[in-house]
Amino acid sequence: MGAAVIDGKAFADTLRGKVGAAVAAFREQTGRAPGLAVVLVGEDPASQVYVRSKHKATVAAGMESFEHRLPATAAQDALIALVERLNADEAVDGILVQLPLPRHMDEKAVIAAIDPAKDVDGFHVINSGKLAVGEEALVPCTPLGCLMLLKDRLGDLSGLEAVVIGRSNIVGKPMAQLLLQESCTVTIAHSRTRDLSSVVRRGDIVVAAVGRPEMVKGDWLKPGATVIDVGINRVPGEEGKSRLVGDVDYAGAAAVAGAITPVPGGVGPMTIAVLLRNTLVAASRRAG
Ligand code: GUN
Repeated sequence: MGAAVIDGKAFADTLRGKVGAAVAAFREQTGRAPGLAVVLVGEDPASQVYVRSKHKATVAAGMESFEHRLPATAAQDALIALVERLNADEAVDGILVQLPLPRHMDEKAVIAAIDPAKDVDGFHVINSGKLAVGEEALVPCTPLGCLMLLKDRLGDLSGLEAVVIGRSNIVGKPMAQLLLQESCTVTIAHSRTRDLSSVVRRGDIVVAAVGRPEMVKGDWLKPGATVIDVGINRVPGEEGKSRLVGDVDYAGAAAVAGAITPVPGGVGPMTIAVLLRNTLVAASRRAG
């Protein structure tokens, strides 16, 4: 028996449709569209692709998209001044500063400058603190998208063993907080974890967010586990082409797991759909 495939693309399309309908209602009520400002510093090719797809999705959902580009040589003060202008701009409900920033900039200082009420990435310490103590927060898009897929698949998560592999501020830590809030028994594993395969085998839920191609093997998994693969790794493929793989060895895992997200088409499409959702949430809260 192979694992069920969790179709993140279909789920994300449905979520985008729901956000689009709610945006139309918001426009009707307030006379304006929710606005998302995306700031790109420099010319990192992957970041340019992300920013372009965020812009397209924002417009497709009926929201205003404001794009701001600064050269890679820009001073940090110039970026913070731009963030402060966006904080004060009534037409802007969400602010996203695309990461990574050039090396001469301090990401923490830039994120700290964003108004927490407009922090649709959920990266500001006010939002991570609120998430940790269970207050209403803006929650990072990728882990929130993973949680939506898990709840859609499993329903009530209470009492399940969840193993999160990876401890980043963007995915691993907020993912663990969200699963804890759902009353899972949560383990965070990382690069220093000893006997990782035994830890992973405890998981009814395994979320892999380590950025190492096909690291999690099928025989590490508890049979029937639900596997969420956050990894997007480009590796050499056939005929000199490259291909995308996750952090999980898909073929091996699909033979053991109960359900698994594919790469591509699993978690990836959820991130932008949740970004749109977070922007709508921020706009609705600001509109009071
Ligand atoms: N770079 C890669 N992922 C993300 C994300 O979710 N938000 C931002 N701001 N930058 C990123």
